[in-house]
Amino acid sequence: MNNQIDISVSVNGTRYQQTVDPRLLLSDFLRHDLGLTGTHVGCEHGVCGACTVLFDGEPVRSCLMFAVQADGHEILTVESLGTMDELHPLQEAFREVHAVQCGFCTPGILMGLLPFVEENDDPSEEEIREALSGNLCRCTGYQHIVDAIKLAAARIQPSEQREG
Ligand code: FES
Ligand code: FES
Repeated sequence: MNNQIDISVSVNGTRYQQTVDPRLLLSDFLRHDLGLTGTHVGCEHGVCGACTVLFDGEPVRSCLMFAVQADGHEILTVESLGTMDELHPLQEAFREVHAVQCGFCTPGILMGLLPFVEENDDPSEEEIREALSGNLCRCTGYQHIVDAIKLAAARIQPSEQREG
């Protein structure tokens, strides 16, 4: 179709040259075009935080952005974290303190809180709850998530931070 647009976007360190519809949401681009289904879609209107990814290092709600806005930018999704054999320290903390139930909210929380745990080595519970306030979880009651973030923040040292 003529009104499609060519974009070049880096996702998890791989550059993709794609042709997309101007109205394609970034969340749908990641999930459907690239097959990166770790990014979840809950509300599709910016409330739940499940679709959070890092956009040039900053958490964004990918359901509120168009794929064309990612042209020339760098996206990190939850697939950029650890592997099944070697979890990222933030994932490992969630596993250790049982901060996951159904897991639907988890990718968005991990990506939304990743910069926070990298920048804060001893956050208060109040600071963690404030940082977490943009992500909804319908299962856990949040206490275990708060505990996991505190544990991860204490473990993640500046030397382990993401490049760029
Ligand atoms: S799916 Fe994007 S904020 Fe809920
Ligand atoms: S673990 Fe189920 S929504 Fe958070």
